[in-house]
Amino acid sequence: METEVLAPDSYDRISLDDVVRGKVAVLTGCLQHAGLFDDVVAATLDVVEDVGGIAARAAVERDGFEKLHHHMGMEEAIKVRPRLADRLSDDVVGLVSPILAGLGRSARSPYICGQVYVRIIMPEDIVAGYRSRLRGEAGFLVPHSPHRDSWFSQGTNSINLWMAVGRVSAGNSLLVYPDVYHTDQGRSGNLVHPGEPLGRPVRYELSPGDVLLFHGDHVHSSEVNITEDTRYVITARVSVGAPKYNNKEGSSWVPYYHWGLAESRLRAVSSMRSRATVAYLRRRVLSRLSSTLSRGSSTLSRGK
Ligand SMILES: [Fe+2]
Repeated sequence: METEVLAPDSYDRISLDDVVRGKVAVLTGCLQHAGLFDDVVAATLDVVEDVGGIAARAAVERDGFEKLHHHMGMEEAIKVRPRLADRLSDDVVGLVSPILAGLGRSARSPYICGQVYVRIIMPEDIVAGYRSRLRGEAGFLVPHSPHRDSWFSQGTNSINLWMAVGRVSAGNSLLVYPDVYHTDQGRSGNLVHPGEPLGRPVRYELSPGDVLLFHGDHVHSSEVNITEDTRYVITARVSVGAPKYNNKEGSSWVPYYHWGLAESRLRAVSSMRSRATVAYLRRRVLSRLSSTLSRGSSTLSRGK
């Protein structure tokens, strides 16, 4: 499967329909072209400063996100990641909309995932000491093994907008396995079972501001970071039409907003379709169960 590499004057040669059918595309310089890059950099530096102080901000600004690990440890990155994700998610429509506007038309209106994900993968000699502690951060602060996104939280029609904010190099990139796009794999939980054949992976070298588009149901994984650089990427997601979930899969439902309604006065109802799903009900039940259990355990500890 060939990857389309598209310059700003030809982004409209790819549509979300093409991507959800399996095409992979790199939109070169997309964040700069859409007028988003400087805002994402500024938001990141603000959060770096909140967590690490003004000196850390100045050093990261001087040396680039690739050298973030020279100026912050993993403990700081653990704080930066969710704070920055929350900040970027506050205006996810503003982040995604200019990118969607440049693409070819799709048959159905896109829905925009309400969550932006921040992925800061430091070199492996730093990450190695945190792998067991940060299992829940797979794909965010530690590499993620091969999986399909619909196995844990996303719709089967969900597309990743994988946005390089720092440089992405061979040795710290994303791997996509196009040879097994339409085949079944044995699984261990939400991951492909180790030893399953996956064919020849494709990896992507990206410049800051490039955006990679790929269907979340492509098997994909992170490379173990064997470079000297931190790999810093943010991702947003869209679905083609309302999100469709595997009914027995996933516990991490997040809202998706109808693109047109989200930019109108009807924003409040723009996520209704994504809430009318079994995945949403499952998420609510699991959240209630979890808060009941945590209330129960705090009552027990007060009784000791
Ligand atoms: Fe994924």
